[in-house]
Amino acid sequence: MTPQAFTASSARLVASRHTHLPDATAAVVVTALVFALLWARMESGASDTVAVMPFMDDAGTYWMYLLSQAFGWSALLWAWGTVMLGLLLSGPRPDRLPVSRQVLERWHRTTSLTTMALMFAHALMFAAELVRYETKVDWAERLWVGFADPFVPGWYDSGTGRIAIPLGQGALYLAIPLGLLFYVRHRIGANTWRRLHRFVIVVYVLSVWHTLLYGTNVWFGEWPRTVLWLLQLPVAALLLLRLLKPARRAERLGPPRRGAGTARPAWWARAAGRVVAGAVVVGLVIVVVSDRDGGRDRPTRPPATAPHEQETD
Ligand code: HEM
Repeated sequence: MTPQAFTASSARLVASRHTHLPDATAAVVVTALVFALLWARMESGASDTVAVMPFMDDAGTYWMYLLSQAFGWSALLWAWGTVMLGLLLSGPRPDRLPVSRQVLERWHRTTSLTTMALMFAHALMFAAELVRYETKVDWAERLWVGFADPFVPGWYDSGTGRIAIPLGQGALYLAIPLGLLFYVRHRIGANTWRRLHRFVIVVYVLSVWHTLLYGTNVWFGEWPRTVLWLLQLPVAALLLLRLLKPARRAERLGPPRRGAGTARPAWWARAAGRVVAGAVVVGLVIVVVSDRDGGRDRPTRPPATAPHEQETD
């Protein structure tokens, strides 16, 4: 590397540190606040996690599980933010933005890296809790369970988790290549990168689906679950706008060209994408207004006393 190139990349590194540090700090603060809230609710007996799994009635014992949940929420919040920023950048350009496009781009890059770290921390704290919990087996098996249940797809074999955990793993494992490809875009080509990067929306959908299916704090059909559904409306609306009015001219959907061979299936695929996004917006409104959001009823009989019993309901 020449001295000039070295100086330039060092300068970039220093500059990026200025955005990464405040963002990472904000993520830690938000996680700590959520952790404190979950802890207080567990101690006061108001925790929905305890309503679902009454054996978890001691925050001091289950603090790693609470921390995993807290990282889950900050991961989802950061994923929400970074997806919104990405859609703002690739959709119709608003006439006036409070900050420049370069700043938005920098925020998008930074928040996406933070999201990946938070997702990983969420799974890691779940792994740590499993190792702590499995006291009846030897250390080798404890470590194996701690690794395999959260990280090996298909290994977790209990109740709703059989579907919910692979959804979360899918989100984590897809987020890493789709996010990091940006840093090798000059090798794979900007177009290939752009084509692959748009599938990052799948990461977000998997994350929300995983949460709705498995989050005990949104387990019941009550307001926290409604808020989670509601938060998806702006994402879906912005996705629809982005598809209808993409910033890049080449992505706009003109009338289908007659006899254009391979261009026709692509046109139909892109038109179908717009219809699906519109249907999602309508579907979300119906879910929120009708309150049919997949939430379970709070149990009237004594709840489960052992891990995973509640999942067979
Ligand atoms: C290897 C991947 C993952 C594993 C093993 C995993 C594991 C879990 C488990 C066991 C729960 C249930 C916690 C509870 O009792 O509420 C959960 C909930 C949750 N997960 Fe994940 N997850 C993964 C990926 C993700 C990703 C990628 C996100 C989001 C970006 C996410 C966000 C959440 C949220 C928000 C909750 C709800 C927590 C609560 O209700 O308090 N997870 N996850």
